[in-house]
Amino acid sequence: MDGQPPNTDYSAIAVTPCSPHIGAEIGDIDLTRPLSNSEAAELKQAFTQYLVLFFRDQQIGFEDHVRLAEYFGPIGAHVGAKTISQTTEDPRVRKFHADENTPRVSGDVWHTDQSCAEVPPMASLLYIHTIPPQGGGDTIFASMYRAYEALSEGMKVYLDGLTALHDGRDIFGEGTPSASHPVVVRHPDSGRKLIYVNGAFTKRINELPEQESDAVLRFLCAHCARPEWSFRFRWAPHSLAMWDNRCAQHFAVSDYLPNVRSGFRVQIDGIASPVAG
Ligand code: SIN
Repeated sequence: MDGQPPNTDYSAIAVTPCSPHIGAEIGDIDLTRPLSNSEAAELKQAFTQYLVLFFRDQQIGFEDHVRLAEYFGPIGAHVGAKTISQTTEDPRVRKFHADENTPRVSGDVWHTDQSCAEVPPMASLLYIHTIPPQGGGDTIFASMYRAYEALSEGMKVYLDGLTALHDGRDIFGEGTPSASHPVVVRHPDSGRKLIYVNGAFTKRINELPEQESDAVLRFLCAHCARPEWSFRFRWAPHSLAMWDNRCAQHFAVSDYLPNVRSGFRVQIDGIASPVAG
């Protein structure tokens, strides 16, 4: 990659940061075979450090996709009553496909996956084998650590102790869960504090009057989406992105329909509800 030197703390895999605050491209790795202990350990370390990992030129099958996810935790299921992605012959893997018949690109709003769940998924692994012929369909990722750290000290104090309602029914239909989570949470692995509200699922801050809640959420969602802590990933055929839903938001850019963008995704179960920071 242009301009970014590899991180020399890593020796079993190549880890090249993509931007100052989020994302690293992983090289010297073959996802079609089991990883060595040191490769798996360094991958976990890089995931905690960079929040989103990108792999290129990996022609993987379902077993490879699932094996990669299982180094991090058990495979989970989508909590939505209705989802745009479709089942495959393997219940652990969902097809993620858009084309001329797709009314709307899934994920074209800033979000973390299924934050409406009591225990949201830890991570998602999206593998794209077919990209639109003229490009497009990038995914933008943002660090919620950096977004939190950039708040004023007064705003950090104000947000401390607040909780927010996350509701998935508008997106995934009746029967989809809702849950309240702290507005500021602490990541279980890194120990860092971060903002945990997003434009897709977060409906209101429970402890505030409605208008104040609306204004604070508007501010926080705009703040979280700022380019200073974001990175825009350009897919190529057979790329895979693995993101940490506990500390990164993402946005799927809807600029390619009616062209085809197609792949598969797997999600890793969360271990516990987000904990206040
Ligand atoms: C998503 O929002 O989960 C999908 C991201 C993408 O299609 O790039």
